[in-house]
Amino acid sequence: MGFGVTTMKDQISRLENEAKEELARADSFETIESFRVAYLGKKGKLTELFKQLGTVSAEEKKSVGAELNRLKQWLEEAVEKGKGNVPQANAFRETFDETLPGVQPPKGSIHILQQTIQEISAIFNRMGFEIVEGPEIETEFHNFTALNIPLDHPSRDAFDTFYTPQGQLLRSQTSTVQIRVMKDRKPPLRIIAPGRVYRPDTVDASHSFMFHQIEGLMVDGSVTFSDLKGVLHLFLRELFGAQTKIRFRPHFFPFTEPSVEVDIQWGKGWLEILGAGSVDPNVFQEVGYDKAVTKGFAFGLGVERIAMLCHGINDIRHFYENDLRFLRQF
Ligand code: DAH
Repeated sequence: MGFGVTTMKDQISRLENEAKEELARADSFETIESFRVAYLGKKGKLTELFKQLGTVSAEEKKSVGAELNRLKQWLEEAVEKGKGNVPQANAFRETFDETLPGVQPPKGSIHILQQTIQEISAIFNRMGFEIVEGPEIETEFHNFTALNIPLDHPSRDAFDTFYTPQGQLLRSQTSTVQIRVMKDRKPPLRIIAPGRVYRPDTVDASHSFMFHQIEGLMVDGSVTFSDLKGVLHLFLRELFGAQTKIRFRPHFFPFTEPSVEVDIQWGKGWLEILGAGSVDPNVFQEVGYDKAVTKGFAFGLGVERIAMLCHGINDIRHFYENDLRFLRQF
C-alpha cells in the first residue's frame, strides 16, 4: 500500500521542481500563459496527477490530496505573480486586437415619468404655455393660504402634509407655483408647472409618498370657462387620440370657482384625469391682483396616473424602483 503513496508524493515533488525551473525561464506573458496551460489546464500535468488521486489508498488520500492542493495553490499564485511582473506591453499585445469593434458603453434613456412630463409639456407649449418650476420645500402660504384653503381644512393636517421642523412643508400640490408666478409677474400669463409633490400616504400599488403633478394656469382680463374647456379638449385629444370622449363634472376645489373634474371615456366607463376651474377671486386677491377685473383658469393633473393609463402600468411603485427590466421598456 505504501507503493502508490510514495509514487504519488515523488511525482508531486518532481513536478514541483520541474515547474519552478520552467517558471524561472518564463519571461513573457505568452510563455507564462503556456506554462499555466501545461500545468493547470484541462489536460495539464497537475490536473493529471489529481486524476490519479482515485488510485491512492483511503488512509493516504488525505495527505496526498493536501499536497496536490498546496502545489495547485502555489502554481496559481506563481502564474498570477509572473503575469504581473512581465512588461505590460507583452500582455497588451497578447490581448489587444485593434480590428475588433469597440466596447459600447451602456446608453441611458429618459425615465418614463420624465417622458410623460415632456410629452404633456410639449402639447401645452404649442398652445403658448410657458414651462416654469417652483421649489419643493414651501410655505403654508403658498401651499394653502393663498390658495384659499381654510385653516381648518383637513389637507393641512400633519396626516396629509409633511411639515419640516422649521415650520415649512413639502408641497402637497404644484398649485403653489400658480401663487409664485402671480406674485412675481403681471397678467397675461400662460404657464404650466411640472414637478414633485409629497404626501404622507402609505405606499401601495396606487399610492406613493412622492409623485408628480403638472399645474396649469392662464390669466388675463378676458379668459372664460369656455377657454378652459377648449384648451383641455385640445390637450386630452392630443394626448389620448382625436376620438377621445371628454366629460366635465362639477366638483369643488378651494382655489377655483366653479370647479370641475374632467373625465375621459375609457372602455365602457369614465376615468377622472384632472381637476380644473376658473381661478377663485380670493386667490387673485391674495397675490395682489385686482379681483374685479382679472380672469383666469387653472388645472392640475397627476403624471403617474396618466403614464399608468397610457402604458398599462398596474403598480405605481415600478416608477421608483430603478428596475432596468421595467425602465428599458420605454
Ligand atoms: N391641486 C389639486 C390636487 O392636488 C389639483 C388641481 C385641481 C389643481 C383643480 C388645479 C385645479 O389648478 O384648478 O388635487
